[in-house]
Amino acid sequence: MSELKNDRFIKALLRQPLDRTPVWMMRQAGRYLPEYRATRAQAGDFMSLCKNTELACEVTMQPLERYELDAAILFSDILTIPDAMGLGLYFEEGEGPKFRKPVRTEADIEKLEVINTASDLPYVTDAVSMIRRELNGRVPLIGFSGSPWTLATYMVEGQSSRDFARAKTMLYTQPEVMHQLLEKLALSVIDYLNAQIRAGAQVVQIFDTWGGALSHAAYQEFSLAYMEKIVANLITHADGREVPVILFTKGGGHWLEAMADSGCHALGLDWTVDIGSARGRVGNKVALQGNMDPAVLRADPATIEREVASILTSYGDNPGHIFNLGHGITPDIDPANVKVFIDAVHKFSAN
Ligand code: CP3
Repeated sequence: MSELKNDRFIKALLRQPLDRTPVWMMRQAGRYLPEYRATRAQAGDFMSLCKNTELACEVTMQPLERYELDAAILFSDILTIPDAMGLGLYFEEGEGPKFRKPVRTEADIEKLEVINTASDLPYVTDAVSMIRRELNGRVPLIGFSGSPWTLATYMVEGQSSRDFARAKTMLYTQPEVMHQLLEKLALSVIDYLNAQIRAGAQVVQIFDTWGGALSHAAYQEFSLAYMEKIVANLITHADGREVPVILFTKGGGHWLEAMADSGCHALGLDWTVDIGSARGRVGNKVALQGNMDPAVLRADPATIEREVASILTSYGDNPGHIFNLGHGITPDIDPANVKVFIDAVHKFSAN
């Protein structure tokens, strides 16, 4: 078992008692940090940054140099899988991700091949290995993937979307075709996450960013079922330790009980749910991660502290809480406010 100097995050995921609540932030390496913007400029663009092992490692470490965080997250993107499937990912400044060749028809989906991470995405596992060496046991490293449904929305729409018109049309008019796409994605995600675990990821998170756009019944059938399949097929132990799995469905507050039965170790919560009620609903089945509205970081220090305290109070004196934002930190946030946030979690959660 490799030595971990700070294992609070893993312990909280396994619902063990701790001296204080661990904390990290979704998108903690990102544009709100001037040093990130400088490294991205050096790489040329975002995808070149993801594909440059040294620079991806460097930006992963940047937030840890500034703040006392309890986890590192691989610097990469969920859209690496569709890119490897040949859809031609590119980013246009201010417009988010786009695909040159979206998948729109049954024939498009039949042609897609399940990815082989070792040959198709070596830059991702190379980054994981280098980051693990660089961390040297300082904190655990999180690997991640998008959920099949979330990846499918980008692949069918060809870009970000407000209403998922094309993806939902496929779901309701040709459900078997959508299932074929989701099945190929689930197999790809299993291979991708297991490759990250073999390369050194100590925790994995599945980002189901758009699961909350589905109806109650469609969520179970088109998103949760595939995440369950993924969880059931992941490597469970590495380095002599359990590898916890976190499921994060944004807008998934209605479905926490079902998510908690998926076999995962923890649920990521967005800011729309009360974390204390969520704890009551899922009992002791899973740990909970979240859930401050990232917009709170736009407010003054006193407000940030008050919001942190109120989430800790709502959660109460139970093990199994990892503090996080309810979604990724946005580029407009002042890095000084992030320090106020992290310090408040440390201060108010100390036993
Ligand atoms: O959390 C981290 O620090 C690790 C890195 C990470 C990124 N993307 C880096 C990134 C992670 C975990 C992701 C996941 C991701 N990517 C998701 C799921 C999480 C979520 O936010 O819901 C999604 C939907 C994507 C797809 C994606 N990638 C979008 C929609 C965008 C554009 C967003 C924007 O704000 O412009 C990206 C680009 C992206 N991924 C950036 C970063 C730091 C910004 C790119 C840049 O530097 O210009």
